[in-house]
Amino acid sequence: MNSHELSLREKNIVFTGFMGVGKTTIGKRVAKKLYRSFIDTDDAIEEAFGMTPAEVFTTYGEKTFRDKEREIVTRLCTEQKLHVISLGGGAFMQDEIRKVCLEKCIVIYLDLSWEHWKDRIGLIIDSRPVLKDRSLDEIEELFYKRQEYYSVNHSKMETDEQDPEEVASYIVDSLKLAWELY
Ligand code: S3P
Repeated sequence: MNSHELSLREKNIVFTGFMGVGKTTIGKRVAKKLYRSFIDTDDAIEEAFGMTPAEVFTTYGEKTFRDKEREIVTRLCTEQKLHVISLGGGAFMQDEIRKVCLEKCIVIYLDLSWEHWKDRIGLIIDSRPVLKDRSLDEIEELFYKRQEYYSVNHSKMETDEQDPEEVASYIVDSLKLAWELY
């Protein structure tokens, strides 16, 4: 390991996955258990613009949102501050974001099956511009198309049959084991 390379336990932890899979809920719990700071990149974007991500989409357009998202994720990933970072579900579609996350951080993909995910749609559709004006079939297509991008990760966690606390505990135990071994 050269002097600039971080050990596993010094790296920021990044959660990726589709909208509504629990990145924020689980990320917050993991951060608390590890005594780390938690950052939701959508909240950071909201703070930067003084408006919600949905409002940024309607006021400035998706490109402006994605540019800011890339800028914020790149900055957070390269900070050596033991963050736990929850990405927006579309962030991993950007090559630059995937690259910086995979190079600098531990990337955990939260996987939820379509069957389980579609039960949550009513809870999130109004606040997610990417889902609005799409039929259920179109959303399903987007869901599967994005799996290809999320599939490049350091660790994949299936969340179908577990509650957020169980998932968070499992992740923390696995991380601690990895930190002891490597
Ligand atoms: C988006 C996901 C959202 C938010 C924005 C775009 C996407 O975040 O960044 O609405 O393209 O998947 P969540 O994954 O936290 O819902």
